[in-house]
Amino acid sequence: MFAIAYASYSTVDAGKLDLDGIAREAAVKNAALGITGYLCYDHGVFFQYLEGERHTVLELMDSIEKDPQHDVINKVILGEYDQRVFPDWSMRYLNRSDLRRVDLEHVLEHSLFHMDSKLYGQENIVALIRALAANIAARQAHLKAA
Ligand SMILES: Cc1cc2nc3c(=O)[nH]c(=O)nc-3n(C[C@H](O)[C@H](O)[C@H](O)COP(=O)(O)O)c2cc1C
Repeated sequence: MFAIAYASYSTVDAGKLDLDGIAREAAVKNAALGITGYLCYDHGVFFQYLEGERHTVLELMDSIEKDPQHDVINKVILGEYDQRVFPDWSMRYLNRSDLRRVDLEHVLEHSLFHMDSKLYGQENIVALIRALAANIAARQAHLKAA
């Protein structure tokens, strides 16, 4: 299992952004592709975690990067995993109150958007995102069913 995460900033006005629509469509396509993960959005910034078969994840990432609704600014290859972190989420949208429920409401401020590998070190960023994903997965029971 291969995983990738990225931060991007939205190029669409917040009022016109259909987050549930993006996540719903993504979930349908991802289910067919065998991709799982989650998507966060806050104050114009997206954070997405994608996992699946290496080739499929990289191909999907290519098409997501071409999407004019956002500009990807920081992409992190998380590498190979023994098993999926989010087997039940084809693409779960987590809003701020969801993150509060899993005690991670401060995470977005420190999201990848602000992380410069020269400052933090690439291995530290990878370790942090892996820990974040494991944390969210461990607390899934605190979230409403998608
Ligand atoms: C923030 C963001 C996240 C997205 N995540 C996914 C995703 O996980 N899976 C997916 O298939 N499309 C996702 N999309 C949509 C893709 O960028 C793209 O529009 C879609 O895959 C194109 O599909 P099509 O070639 O079948 O029209 C996302 C778009 C945005 C803006």
